Amino acid sequence: MSTGHAATIAAQAGIAKDTAFSAVIPPLYLSTTYKLGAFQQPEQYDYSRSNNPTRDLLATTLADLEGGSKAIVTSSGMAACLLALQLLTPDDTLVIPHDCYGGSYRLFTNLAAKKHAFKLLIINFQQAGWQAHVSAVQPKMIWLETPSNPLLQITDIRAVCTLAKTLDALVVVDNTFLSPILQQPLALGADLVVHSTTKYINGHSDVIGGVLICKAPELGDELKWWANCLGITGAPFDCYLTLRGLRTLPLRIALQQDNAARVVDFLLQQPLVAKVYYPGLPDHPGHSVAANQQTGFGAMCSFDLACDVSQLPVFFSALRIFTLAQSLGGIESLICHPGSMTQASMNAQAQTEAGIGPALLRLSLGIENIDDLLADLQQALAALALAVGDTRYAG
Ligand SMILES: Cc1ncc(COP(=O)(O)O)c(C=O)c1O
Repeated sequence: MSTGHAATIAAQAGIAKDTAFSAVIPPLYLSTTYKLGAFQQPEQYDYSRSNNPTRDLLATTLADLEGGSKAIVTSSGMAACLLALQLLTPDDTLVIPHDCYGGSYRLFTNLAAKKHAFKLLIINFQQAGWQAHVSAVQPKMIWLETPSNPLLQITDIRAVCTLAKTLDALVVVDNTFLSPILQQPLALGADLVVHSTTKYINGHSDVIGGVLICKAPELGDELKWWANCLGITGAPFDCYLTLRGLRTLPLRIALQQDNAARVVDFLLQQPLVAKVYYPGLPDHPGHSVAANQQTGFGAMCSFDLACDVSQLPVFFSALRIFTLAQSLGGIESLICHPGSMTQASMNAQAQTEAGIGPALLRLSLGIENIDDLLADLQQALAALALAVGDTRYAG
């Protein structure tokens, strides 16, 4: 286990450790199978679904960054979510937040309804009295996603973990939106951390991957067994690329976060922007909890445009740098319409209850020059203003 600063852990993972040829950068092991030492004497590696040196290096590095004892690298973020759910039986109750990522919501609700894999309670952790609702069902597992997608609501991880301990419940935190650089849920009391490494951890929008990181080694062993059993471990080539991306995570996230803060300031001044959602804003309901449990406010923000949904195409097609696409956390700036994209698997009522309005847009800030990003938004807002007959952007 490596300790020290995150930047050093990420940059130094596996460096100059190659015993075969003294390669400085750790090699990529693509072999699916490994020679036995002798008859009935397997060595450290035997078959790549179970264990692989490239995947193991990524897993160890991610466990070190999150302060966990073991990490299991999976083929996607959803596979990491599915893996965590193997700890549940049909008699157990899982508590989830009403505003979690749409794909996770689809997995939880369908496994509960169609497979009876567990009982499900959907909670709004922002509403007073959530403790009583959670306690009443005696859950085996509580799932958190903070900041949430797409409204960046903040849940107090310490408060939930304190309650969970009294109930003997496990707490899983999906830390995808912040990465271990900005939030470390295990240190706040959580038992498991999930990431879609597709996002900030790889950071280059060219690998789908996930990881499940465990605080307790026994839980890690049990989940590693399940990952092999289900066949959902990550491909070595994907792990190689993800480790390469991970090395620059601290640098990327710092710049992306600076860009987000500047974009938020800009959006707040725009007549065509009805509301801005960013935990860094002092009037954001989760601001003080975020300031307490995070080391930065992140590089995602959302906003409501003051227009009809039918006018959104004008805004999208005017953008030159922001790309209209799903996903987040890459070096490139993206814009998305959660209602029809990331949260499309939630029905209209669930979207309304989660506060997802028809003209809500989400930005994932990349590493581009901030003046270019602001100019891009400015000219797209001007195009929208022209289309809706708003003269405030004229001139
Ligand atoms: C918060 C969050 N968790 C999990 C996932 C699922 O990850 P993947 O797409 O890598 O399966 C996503 C994907 O967008 C996500 O945003």
